[in-house]
Amino acid sequence: MQPILDIPILEDDLDAPRTAGAESAGRRLVFLETYGCQMNVSDSEIVASVLQSAGYGLTHDERAADVVLLNTCAIRDNAEQKVRRRLEELRARKRRHRPDLTLGVLGCMAERLRHKLLEEEQLVDLVVGPDAYRDIARLLDETSDSGQAAVNVLLSREETYADIQPVRYDTNGVSAFVSIMRGCDNMCAFCVVPFTRGRERSRPVDSIVAECTELAAMGYREVTLLGQNVNSYRFTDAGTSVDFAELVYRVSLVSPELRVRYSTSHPKDCSDALLHVHRERPNVCNYIHLPVQHGNSDVLERMRRTYGREEYLALVERARSIVPGLSLSTDIIAGFCGETEDEHRDTLSLMETVRYDHAYMFAYSERPDTYAARKYVDDVPEDVKKRRLTEIIELQTRISLETNRVDVGGVHDVLVEGFSRRSETQVAGRTDTNKMVVFDRGSWRPGDMARVRITGCTSATLFGEAVEAA
Ligand code: 5AD
Ligand code: SF4
Repeated sequence: MQPILDIPILEDDLDAPRTAGAESAGRRLVFLETYGCQMNVSDSEIVASVLQSAGYGLTHDERAADVVLLNTCAIRDNAEQKVRRRLEELRARKRRHRPDLTLGVLGCMAERLRHKLLEEEQLVDLVVGPDAYRDIARLLDETSDSGQAAVNVLLSREETYADIQPVRYDTNGVSAFVSIMRGCDNMCAFCVVPFTRGRERSRPVDSIVAECTELAAMGYREVTLLGQNVNSYRFTDAGTSVDFAELVYRVSLVSPELRVRYSTSHPKDCSDALLHVHRERPNVCNYIHLPVQHGNSDVLERMRRTYGREEYLALVERARSIVPGLSLSTDIIAGFCGETEDEHRDTLSLMETVRYDHAYMFAYSERPDTYAARKYVDDVPEDVKKRRLTEIIELQTRISLETNRVDVGGVHDVLVEGFSRRSETQVAGRTDTNKMVVFDRGSWRPGDMARVRITGCTSATLFGEAVEAA
């Protein structure tokens, strides 16, 4: 059993990059390191697949690799800085010990910084944007033949990698990501994603259902449908059109044993039809990640989120009335351009009103070329941003602890994912409300669904005991 991460992977979880694969002899070996969001983890599985088909081997041992690829994130400046420091370290090693080592940058930073990385800083040999992964083997050949850097950062309006079978090299064998759409057309004022990942496009329904069916047959027990803005999924073919609610419904029919989650959604597209799918389909999880970003309507307008505070609160109320027991998480940004103390307090009061089970909270980081960078001034001083973020985090920690305490005494179905991080005598898994539960290992194995009585909690984790043996 592999130790598991007990938090969902989001952009700031950069300290423990995930690395690829099965060792293989006699082939050029690639070490693939992934930073950032779940979408990048899923993309790395596509890259691993393309490379394997082209005859490359994957290695977990960085020192044994002939090629080191970093799949990168550009969402906040600190994410980019971490990758930059890593590249400098790799570059120094290449200079001193491994002149033949090929260094590549994939993903969002590739798209954003291609000139800088190649010309000004001469850090890398290969730069590949998120829509050019089919081209990666050719680019690797090109750079090793010519000794020159090779680049493809073209964005596509069609590419969904629908026909590429991901190589799940870092899997727990229980839950898998399935990419359903790429890009984003929303243009939130703070966000660089539409620039790094391009226009929205949806993957064909049949290929998604086929991938989920295969995962279920391989013994997987949970899929997370992934996209930058999954709710705007729409696939049209021969005059029929399937929206996100219909897609989730169809995936839920694949197997009653396969739990279905998705991430990440935009409140503007969260339809009643989708909420009814949550209510009616027992294997569609009672959990929605519904990023609010801010609690004040003027700030939301400046952010170009297309909804106000009251609309968002009405949606939360509707969601909870249609789906009893629904668990909600969110993303929040502190210190956006022009944010006043009163506006900040509106975020705190919205959090008190909604009482999210969990939140991902960030200080605003200006990103070049975004609407906010062009039109507004990043005028909230860093120490004020930090203090506001701390207030937001402290409030959420208290609320998470309170909502977790409500679960104590209750019994939940927990899908076992692996060992607890802290002890091999305990296992960890999630409730369908996405809460991590730790309990004694007994003879439980990854993939088992355990009935667990909750006996205690922290703000981040529930503790319990199985009410029946495995
Ligand atoms: N600064 C801070 N946080 C950001 N996010 C996106 N762009 C920025 C930025 N420029 C956050 C949003 C988004 C999450 C994935 O990252 O909250 O929902
Ligand atoms: Fe960025 Fe907004 Fe698109 Fe999310 S919906 S990826 S925050 S532009």
